[in-house]
Amino acid sequence: MAAPVTERAGTPWGDTVLVEFDEGIAWVSLNRPDKRNAMNPALNDEMVATLDALEGDARCRALVLTGSGTSFSAGMDLQEYFREVDESGDPALQARVRRASAEWQWKRLSNWSKPTIAMVNGWCFGGAFTPLVACDLAITDEQAQYGLSEINWGIPPGGVVSRALAATVPQRDALYFIMTGEPFDGRRAAEMRLVNEAVPAARLRERTRELALKLAGMNPAVLRAAKVGYKLAQEMPWEQAEDYLYAKLEQSQFLDPTRGREKGMAQFLDDKTYRPGLGAYSHD
Ligand code: COA
Repeated sequence: MAAPVTERAGTPWGDTVLVEFDEGIAWVSLNRPDKRNAMNPALNDEMVATLDALEGDARCRALVLTGSGTSFSAGMDLQEYFREVDESGDPALQARVRRASAEWQWKRLSNWSKPTIAMVNGWCFGGAFTPLVACDLAITDEQAQYGLSEINWGIPPGGVVSRALAATVPQRDALYFIMTGEPFDGRRAAEMRLVNEAVPAARLRERTRELALKLAGMNPAVLRAAKVGYKLAQEMPWEQAEDYLYAKLEQSQFLDPTRGREKGMAQFLDDKTYRPGLGAYSHD
């Protein structure tokens, strides 16, 4: 694997965010390991700029979001995101830091143009549930510790944390953990479908890489239409969803320079060289 790209010159990352490129995968690490990757305003600003830069970077065909050190992220930074902003008494500052936080953690990430995987390598608390759920897929260390700890320090989950839970896990599990603040592990996270899979720590990077490589090798125009179509159609009435999803289908054909649909059809109907139910058509 290539060495981490840490220099600031020409890249928006390199301080509170690190990026490594590896065969089409951009491994993006929240990088405040001493603070368990708690998300402070500087990190939120850097992540907004990093996502924007990677969107146009050909070295990134799939993005993995993870954390440096022993933590995925300990949530919002209680000192810099909450206390210091409260003490400033400045509503404009509060609006600005909230906007940057929401901007990358769900607005940009949830409909990002390339596939995204959260790799939960350790602590995952509070506000960290937002980017976790915003990623398309998630793989966890089975021993990782999760918690909606907000109730333990006197607030309900803020931002869109509760909304993100409602989009992924059943109400009984969501309310249990929101209301008790009890921690749970990666196995439990997989059981309630907060993540796709829980694997032993030793397999985490390898399994995530395998999945990211698969996505990085797929037709990007079609993948984008498929994921964004799924996410946005959920909130539409059926009639609108049908029209929108057909429009997405036609858009993806229009935007796909490789003419994947025609190739796949020809390989199945004419050449009889492949079965679409059993794998992807050949790009060649
Ligand atoms: N905000 C700000 N600082 C945080 C933080 C957070 N959310 N989470 C951890 N830190 C800081 C600690 O204050 C400590 O800083 P210090 O070394 O300057 O004293 C450092 O990170 C290491 O934390 P520590 O508690 O010693 O690490 P740990 O490995 O023993 O425990 C956690 C890790 C995640 C269990 C624990 O830090 C914790 O409970 N954090 C708060 C989690 C939370 O409630 N998040 C919700 C926020 S929305």
